[in-house]
Amino acid sequence: MSLFRKKSLSVLLSQASDSEKGLKRTLGAGNLVALGIGAIIGAGLFVRTAAAAGEHAGPAVTLSFIVAAIGCAFAGLCYAEFASIIPIAGSAYTYAYTTMGEIVAWIIGWALILEYALGAATVSIAWSEFLNNLLGGAIPYEWCHSPLESWLDANGVMHHGILNAPALSILVLLTLLLIKGTQESAMVNAIIVFIKVAIVLVFIAIGWKFIDSGNHTPYLIPADWPDAVKPDGTKLSYSGFFNHGWGGVLKGAAIVFFAFIGFDAVSTAAQEAKNPKKDMPIGILGSLVICTVLYVLFSWVLTGVAPFTDFVKEGKEASVAYAISEYMKGYEWLSTAVSIAILAGFSSVILVMLMGQSRVFYTMSTDGLLPKVFSKLHPKFRTPYKSNMILFVFVGLFAAFVPGSVAGDLTSIGTLLAFVLVCVGVLILRKTDPNLVRPFKTPLVPLIPILGIVVCMAMILSLWGTTLLSALGWMAAGLLVYFLYSRHNSKLRNPSEILPRASDFEATDE
Ligand code: ALA
Repeated sequence: MSLFRKKSLSVLLSQASDSEKGLKRTLGAGNLVALGIGAIIGAGLFVRTAAAAGEHAGPAVTLSFIVAAIGCAFAGLCYAEFASIIPIAGSAYTYAYTTMGEIVAWIIGWALILEYALGAATVSIAWSEFLNNLLGGAIPYEWCHSPLESWLDANGVMHHGILNAPALSILVLLTLLLIKGTQESAMVNAIIVFIKVAIVLVFIAIGWKFIDSGNHTPYLIPADWPDAVKPDGTKLSYSGFFNHGWGGVLKGAAIVFFAFIGFDAVSTAAQEAKNPKKDMPIGILGSLVICTVLYVLFSWVLTGVAPFTDFVKEGKEASVAYAISEYMKGYEWLSTAVSIAILAGFSSVILVMLMGQSRVFYTMSTDGLLPKVFSKLHPKFRTPYKSNMILFVFVGLFAAFVPGSVAGDLTSIGTLLAFVLVCVGVLILRKTDPNLVRPFKTPLVPLIPILGIVVCMAMILSLWGTTLLSALGWMAAGLLVYFLYSRHNSKLRNPSEILPRASDFEATDE
């Protein structure tokens, strides 16, 4: 059997229409946009904006957001075309199965684990850090850090992490919510999205009055800008190519790219959308546009309120709260509100990432590439509850025992790889099936997909180094699993199993 055997589009479409027996179709366009915003606004905006401004882009971090958004828009337009044609859970993995064949689909599915599962673990670790900050450091170090981390306190006592209990707790809570139901999860997500967007808007509106135009001048960092001093006492020179001017804007774009990760998660919910052909493009592109506007305004205000050089010192978790308490006198309450928005924001990012991952597993399992347990639906809630529980163990182990810094860039690589392959997929499907009805068409093909491939590949290469090597190691492990298990169990091996059967969708409770 060929490694490049493809799943036929007609089979996929019949699976989509047969899904009354499977996942419930409960999500409208509004839910889908909220799902996108839920996954998008998080650590990228609240943590990475200041870091990108302070060390690379200066006030022109607003341009960094625009550059990153343009890169995402190319991929987003390609996602929207596929999601409107193939409204099946599984996202990029499913698209690849029909256009590039099984092995490529497997590679994407495996890469999506980096994006969704590791993404959820990373953000749950950040959630734990923020909670502890908000509680004034009340959680003992040992119980909110991994065993791989240690800290020498002011009294010279060395502390070693045991496990990250808050990260585990938020994962348990959100896993239970996901098992309870997609609609319930979507509702909680919508409430969180409302809170975090409201607080971002309040920060923009109030902060606008505190903008000092001097902080926006010069807009691009000049090459001869004086060195800044980092918290560890070392100097940061702005003379390097990626530390000033347009080079700095580009590097800033790679850093804030993380802030856009998640819009593609909308496409994993295609099988739960009421009217996927119309609403999928709205969900994907709508959430991307709304977040881009919010990001540009937010970063304009943040760099207008505080000089960007302040963020060399305060560029970590506390940057926004710092800017408020230092430069927006009388609005200290806003800094608490922002911390709450950040906690809420992180929760919805984790929620949608976990949901996306379980839906990708669900589809891979119905295709036979993963064991059946991943597509068992709960008899009452019709959610892939066993998959959610296995995922909790996997993500939980990571969150409890591994430091957050390890997973962040891996998440970006997994995402970018999926973006590249989705863009390639659009080009292939336009050639192989030009007359297919496409409710949403990517404009300017082949230009847009090609630009998407180029921009995303450039960002992957900018992450060159140990992260890329770890990602390659992960992909090699994935190929091993494919050749040892998935290839032999693929339903495409047995033509009689290609057509969807009721048992594929049965809500069993084995
Ligand atoms: N976009 C998500 C965040 O910024 C992953 O947290």
